[in-house]
Amino acid sequence: MDILVAGGHGKIALRLLGLLAAQGHTARGLIRSPAQADDLRAVGAIPVLGDLENDETLDAYVKGADAVVFAAGAGPGSGDARKRTVDLGGAVKLADAARNTGVRRYVMISSIGADRPDAAAGSMGPYLHAKAEADDYVRASGLDYTIVRPGSLTDDPGTGRVRISVELGSRGPVPRDDVAAVLFAVLTTRAAIDATFELFTGDTPIAEALAAV
Ligand SMILES: NC(=O)c1ccc[n+]([C@@H]2O[C@H](COP(=O)([O-])OP(=O)(O)OC[C@H]3O[C@@H](n4cnc5c(N)ncnc54)[C@H](OP(=O)(O)O)[C@@H]3O)[C@@H](O)[C@H]2O)c1
Repeated sequence: MDILVAGGHGKIALRLLGLLAAQGHTARGLIRSPAQADDLRAVGAIPVLGDLENDETLDAYVKGADAVVFAAGAGPGSGDARKRTVDLGGAVKLADAARNTGVRRYVMISSIGADRPDAAAGSMGPYLHAKAEADDYVRASGLDYTIVRPGSLTDDPGTGRVRISVELGSRGPVPRDDVAAVLFAVLTTRAAIDATFELFTGDTPIAEALAAV
């Protein structure tokens, strides 16, 4: 498969690109800084230069892909405006590009709390509102979507065991390794199409947990 990961230098994105490339997939990562290209090549991925905020359309990057993944984020240090231009605007642009170019599959890294953004405190409010609106847009897009809402991300080593829940409202940690492994499984097995689920570290092997969605 040819997969285009938007936010290709992100911590989860690099892990996912590495997993895809190791299995012989064409793993393309969209980055806005040429200085990051070697990090993508080091995991076997193909860097694609583009900017989610400043490029009018992402069609040229998405064209030819079998699936797209939204793994970008403005980050905790950013202001409210960039939550709108990256977390919402970038995700919307990616969905539009998928539709324009005939790419059916869209996998979104969302977040716990996006089901109730009004309950969030401080800067989490604008972030979760942006995530909620982006998720709504993708759900209404007609694409074959999967919305993955991880808990608090950690850099602990992955365990390959998770807790996946379509009932929303939980909390807990999850290693980025395991988020990447779940995204990889969702993409390569076409699991969880048209589903939204929360993801935490847990006791259930990933394939088994996804089969129950
Ligand atoms: N932290 C948590 O506990 C948590 C929990 C649930 C969900 N999440 C979500 O999970 C996502 C992925 O996590 P992560 O740790 O892998 O994120 P990350 O390492 O912060 O990666 C985000 C990536 O987005 C890229 N990006 C920002 N603006 C861009 C633009 N205009 N064009 C292209 N790329 C752009 C950044 O690139 P630059 O280097 O160019 O800025 C960065 O590589 C987060 O963004 C967040 O929305 C986080």
